[in-house]
Amino acid sequence: MTKIKVNNYVKHSPPQPQAPAGMMPPKFRINLALNESPYPPSPKAIEAYQETVKVLNRYPNYTSAELRLVLGEKYGLDDRKIMCAAGTEQILSYIARAYIGEGDEVIHPKYGFMVYRFNIAMQGGISVPVEHDDFIINVDYILDAVTDKTSVVILDNPGNPTGTYVPYDDIKRLRAELPQHILLVLDAAYAEFAYEDDYDAGLELVDKYENVIVTRTLSKLYGLSGLRVGWAYSTEEIINTLLHLKGGFNVSKPAQTAGAAAVLDQEYADECRDKCRAGIDYLTAELRAMGLNVTSSVCNFIMLHFPDGRDQMKNTNDYLKDNGIMVGPLGAYDLPASLRITVGTDAENQAFIRAMKDYLGK
Ligand SMILES: Cc1ncc(COP(=O)(O)O)c(C=O)c1O
Repeated sequence: MTKIKVNNYVKHSPPQPQAPAGMMPPKFRINLALNESPYPPSPKAIEAYQETVKVLNRYPNYTSAELRLVLGEKYGLDDRKIMCAAGTEQILSYIARAYIGEGDEVIHPKYGFMVYRFNIAMQGGISVPVEHDDFIINVDYILDAVTDKTSVVILDNPGNPTGTYVPYDDIKRLRAELPQHILLVLDAAYAEFAYEDDYDAGLELVDKYENVIVTRTLSKLYGLSGLRVGWAYSTEEIINTLLHLKGGFNVSKPAQTAGAAAVLDQEYADECRDKCRAGIDYLTAELRAMGLNVTSSVCNFIMLHFPDGRDQMKNTNDYLKDNGIMVGPLGAYDLPASLRITVGTDAENQAFIRAMKDYLGK
């Protein structure tokens, strides 16, 4: 058999999970596993999407120009400093390819988005996970972890799977105290859910410094996970660097058009956000009343910890699966006694709580 040479870092990087990510096996009727929105996209986004069907014989705009204009106007940003891609994940891989070299140390939260580790490994970089205080990132631990090999600090704020956030004052201090040659990547995938006064996604830091990238997505609050639209805001120099890696028409015409319509429908987005927060409050209160430990979350999911450990988590998860409810075990995050539960519709949340009460005999 012919031996085809595979890049060593690809060979030795951790395998990515296969199905069912992004696909619900037929036996599940309630999917609370993947931090998606439980609601369909804005009716205006659906209408815009359907319109594009007639022009699918044409390539999409190469730079997602209109979507960038819409985002720029909404957030008061220079659209030349915005880049769109097929989901934040694609942008994160461009960032890794551009800015992580062999042997570089990359600091990230211990309980941070799993994809960071894959990207770091793929580049031959060294993953430097930092501890949290009660699942909240402490920026001092990040600053303490800096060495002369550190090239990038990346954090999801708010965090997945923690659901917690770092106050903006701390993020500003982090940027000010990090050596200036270190790139700070702020992954704000869940920013739209966090309306706390002391939270901010950090877009203005991009204008103040030369070394900040903020990433955002339409996969979460805007309900477009299936369409794949993410965007980044950074300096023109960094955006132009990332654009070198884009290679082709990466954002489809339906994604650009429906994405712009979704972003413009603030009223619908606010409605979804409020319903998600009410669902999170309901799930948190009900689970705590059962004696379970829930980390307070500003996102569209919660982290649930089982006091009796791994077996209790596993047995509960098996029971939920048998009842058609899919949630997210966090073993891969080194949290073997925890589950991540994405908020559902009211009916789905109630069905989940009923199943939990049945199982725990409450
Ligand atoms: C923290 C974080 N960043 C990025 C992503 C990926 O988002 P996208 O769908 O835009 O690729 C996710 C998805 O779950 C996430 O949790």
